[in-house]
Amino acid sequence: MPLNLLHSPELNADYAASLCQQFGLTLATKASGWHLAWQDNALVLRHSELPKQGDILVDFASGAASYRRLHGGGKGEAIAKACGLNKKRDLTVLDATAGLGRDAFVLASLGAKVTLVERNPAVAALLFDGLRRAAATADLNWLGERMQLLHSSALEALQQHGAVDVVYLDPMFPPRDKTALVKKEMRAFHDVVGSDTDADALLAPALKLAQKRVVVKRPGYADFLAQKAPAMSVTGKNNRFDVYINAAI
Ligand SMILES: C[S@@+](CC[C@H](N)C(=O)[O-])C[C@H]1O[C@@H](n2cnc3c(N)ncnc32)[C@H](O)[C@@H]1O
Repeated sequence: MPLNLLHSPELNADYAASLCQQFGLTLATKASGWHLAWQDNALVLRHSELPKQGDILVDFASGAASYRRLHGGGKGEAIAKACGLNKKRDLTVLDATAGLGRDAFVLASLGAKVTLVERNPAVAALLFDGLRRAAATADLNWLGERMQLLHSSALEALQQHGAVDVVYLDPMFPPRDKTALVKKEMRAFHDVVGSDTDADALLAPALKLAQKRVVVKRPGYADFLAQKAPAMSVTGKNNRFDVYINAAI
C-alpha cells in the first residue's frame, strides 16, 4: 500500500517532490495511520494515533548508532567477525535487506563499502533521508563513499549487481514473544513492512554473487535460512550470524 508524505511548510517543495518521485509516495495534507512526516529537518515514520516521541527515523549521527561506532566492540563485534572484517577492512558488501541501515552502518564504520538494498518504499525513503543528513555531518564525511542506497528488491539486486565480497541478509523474522511487539520499531516494521515470507529464495542467488561469503542474521532460536546449514555460526548478544563460505578472506 503506498504511503502518504504529510505536507509541512518546513519541508522544501523540491525535496518533497523528489521523495515522492523516487519512492512512489503521495503528498497529503492529512494523514491517518502510518505515514511519513517532516520533523526537525528529518523525515520520520509516524502513526497518527501515536505521540511524536514514537517517531522512527534513520539517525547515523547521534544516538545508538554513533555510540556503537565510538564505543562498540569494533572488529571484535560478532557481525564484523562473521563478515570477515576482522581479517580485511575494505571488503565490498551487498546488504540485501537494509532496513534502517544499522548493520550496514556498523560494517561501513569499520571500513566496508556497503550497498544498501531496500524494497519497502517508506523504509527506503527513511534511509535516503538519513544518508542525506549524515553526509552533512563533519564526523561522517567518509559515509558517502562507503554507503550507497539501492531502492530495489533483493532478488533483482542479487541478479544484476556486480561482484561483491560479502552478501549480508537480515530478513524479518516473526517475533517469538509478544512483548517484542511493544518496541516501537518492531511494531512499525510489523505493520508497515510485514514479514518477509520470500526470504528463503534469497540464499541461492546470494551464494552465486558473493565472492567470499554470505552472512545471514537470525534470532538465536530460528532455523537456518532455506534450511541450509552454514559452514559456521558466530553468536552475538541477541542474534546468531550464519556464515556460508565460498572462498577464504
Ligand atoms: C529486519 S529488517 C533489516 C534490519 C537491518 N539489518 C538493520 O540493521 O537495520 C529487514 C528489512 O529487509 C527488507 N527486505 C526484506 N526482504 C527484502 C527483499 N527481498 N528485497 C529488498 N528488501 C527486503 C524489509 O523491507 C526490511 O526493511
